[in-house]
Amino acid sequence: MESRLVYMDHGATTPVRKEVFDYMAPFLQERYGNPSSLHTPGREVRQAVEEAREKTADALGANSDELYITAGGTESNNIALRGVAKKRGKPGHIITSSIEHHAVLDVCKDLEKEGHRVTYLPVDRYGRVDPAAVQDALEEDTFIISIMAANNEIGTLQPVREIGALARGKGVYFHTDAVQVVGQLPVDVNELNVDLLSLSAHKLNGPKGVGALYMRKGVKIDPLYRGGSQERKLRPGTENVPGIIGQGKAIELAVSEIPEKKKRLEHLRDRLIKGLINIGEVSLNGHPEERLPGNVNVSFKYIEGESVLLSLDMEGIAASSGSACSSGSLEPSHVLSAIGLDHSTAHGSVRFSLGYGNNEEDIDYVLEKTPPIVERLRSMSPTYRSR
Ligand SMILES: Cc1ncc(COP(=O)(O)O)c(C=O)c1O
Repeated sequence: MESRLVYMDHGATTPVRKEVFDYMAPFLQERYGNPSSLHTPGREVRQAVEEAREKTADALGANSDELYITAGGTESNNIALRGVAKKRGKPGHIITSSIEHHAVLDVCKDLEKEGHRVTYLPVDRYGRVDPAAVQDALEEDTFIISIMAANNEIGTLQPVREIGALARGKGVYFHTDAVQVVGQLPVDVNELNVDLLSLSAHKLNGPKGVGALYMRKGVKIDPLYRGGSQERKLRPGTENVPGIIGQGKAIELAVSEIPEKKKRLEHLRDRLIKGLINIGEVSLNGHPEERLPGNVNVSFKYIEGESVLLSLDMEGIAASSGSACSSGSLEPSHVLSAIGLDHSTAHGSVRFSLGYGNNEEDIDYVLEKTPPIVERLRSMSPTYRSR
């Protein structure tokens, strides 16, 4: 029985790094004070929370008073879009893309029910949004543009800087879901002309259930929840202290290692893509160059991605078919449909997402185990036999 685990699903979540865990651990036990308390244990924890906020803000080139801690990427997206719409107080127009994560798309659907109009921009075959299409979609009452920094399924990077610049020129807020990018590639909110940005700690070797929303000073927003005055009333509730501390440490580490990690992962990614394409009748999904350093998304012709996935799992290889959130559904992923894949090519897709800890041996192992799996599944496939 194979006991090896090759984890290649970092797009879904990542393990907490030992350094991060060690840093967090005291805040689960002896350093349990409530940061809102006035006594010494409380004040000490407050200081640690503010240091973590500073580390998180520094990683984005932001000021710490522009950084709000949330419960993760989903909550950051909800607070950003719903909060800005709520403050506006009357229906208006929103621009987003057809390949956003559901944490943006489903919020936009809800906002439509409340009377807002939403333009879901199409993407090209690589999954790129055209900035000119954003420009053309602008209307008199467009109040926010939300375009993700990189797609979680196919890894395509968006021209965020250009879109941000044109939003700035029109006085329209620009939000980007940067959950897949922070800690992988350099992010500077000023260079990117971003007004609101969502991130999540569990995608960068930090803990689950914690994230942040960057919000440029002056952005007008209403809170979605009422309660205490934590996070300057934007996100009330007693702080997830261990999570916040872990997030600060994880981001600090991840960002300091980007140059080395990017190079290493891009090399491993390209080796894996080349090896998988060599199997034959395998196509790459997403952009060949403008993609996340660790993202490999391929379609195996004639077979189901889910079947490949289960066979890989039996060999100790953890990957995913499409996005973890949409797997389990029979509909092809909205992202793969949006880049124009036909039903069967979309269903043959598998995502390998590399991260901290993956190495050359992992790539060797996947490239040794995958071809026979594909061959076996194809030998049972009626469409392969009748081709
Ligand atoms: C692009 C993107 N946005 C948002 C999320 C949701 O983040 P969280 O799991 O922290 O709520 C994810 C997670 O899969 C994601 O990939």
